[in-house]
Amino acid sequence: MVEVDNLTRKYGAMLAIDRVTFRAHDGEILGFLGKNGAGKTTTMRIMTGFLPASSGTVRINGADIKEDSLEARRQIGYLPETAPLYEDMSVFSYLAFCARIREVPSREVSTRIEQSMKAVHISERRNWQIGKLSKGLRRRVGLAQALVHNPRVLILDEPTEGLDPEQIIEIRRLILGLRGDHTVILSTHILSEAQALADRIIIIDRGRIVAVDTTENLTRAVVRAQRIRVQVEGPEAAVRKHLEGLSGVQRVERLPDEPPRYVVESERDTDLRSRLADSVINAGWGLVELERIEPTLEDVFLHITSHHEDRIPTPDPTPAEAPKEEAAA
Ligand SMILES: Nc1ncnc2c1ncn2[C@@H]1O[C@H](COP(=O)(O)OP(=O)(O)O)[C@@H](O)[C@H]1O
Ligand SMILES: [Mg+2]
Repeated sequence: MVEVDNLTRKYGAMLAIDRVTFRAHDGEILGFLGKNGAGKTTTMRIMTGFLPASSGTVRINGADIKEDSLEARRQIGYLPETAPLYEDMSVFSYLAFCARIREVPSREVSTRIEQSMKAVHISERRNWQIGKLSKGLRRRVGLAQALVHNPRVLILDEPTEGLDPEQIIEIRRLILGLRGDHTVILSTHILSEAQALADRIIIIDRGRIVAVDTTENLTRAVVRAQRIRVQVEGPEAAVRKHLEGLSGVQRVERLPDEPPRYVVESERDTDLRSRLADSVINAGWGLVELERIEPTLEDVFLHITSHHEDRIPTPDPTPAEAPKEEAAA
């Protein structure tokens, strides 16, 4: 269990994070979601002992990051926002170097290196020079470095940032593979990434936690409708009427584009896409574009500010632990 209580950090007069409080439970993936500048990196650097807090405490399985720093850090693997990799070293010698810094007992070093390379599928590149690896492979080496001392807690700062789509998929798959064996706290500014990876999501905005919930609840709350963007080649009035007439459609909005594009909204659980495509083609028109509009972090903020103005976020306990409200008898 990771316990973060009232973490505050000032840079000069600027309050970067303000009384950040949350828990990460054993084996879960916790998504730390916020825009650039929200305070994610600052929080993670404090949690890993790289930056002192102005006030507040961090405990990693009971060990205080300040008072009992060695023990706390032994339990943490950290992938920083920009991982310092040594370009001239081979993958293997870099991991051996990291294992020494992390004080892995010498008889365990080679096993630990093998296991961490295996966990991120990089064993075949063990003799490659890090400087010659692609960005995606380097990120995997960064993950292996975080794993080399077999920590129970992994703190990953924007682990997919700057990667191309294929590399993102690979890194996400690797992270999902770590769930259960490790407690993973990862930061991202992309809602869909938090949704894809995290069991629970913490939203941080301008240094403050504004929401904590299971990914499922948060998604359900935000995504009230399914939205699809379409462009159809056909007579405008007829196309619009056709879209509005499809069963399950709640609303059609014309975007200010020429040629016209539409946002078609349906109930949350109806996936209109294939039905819409078939019907447009059957009408003899051309379907130029059909794309699902994914909700964004902005949608979440809109939701939070419009629905929860009166709700003071309670970072903990999690729903599972929350005291059950007895049904009124
Ligand atoms: N070393 C620093 N000196 C001064 N201000 C900083 C420093 N690091 C971060 N900040 C500021 O603190 C705030 C939080 O930054 P950061 O934790 O990096 O956010 P995030 O990782 O969510 O993008 C931002 O306003 C940023 O400009
Ligand atoms: Mg950051």
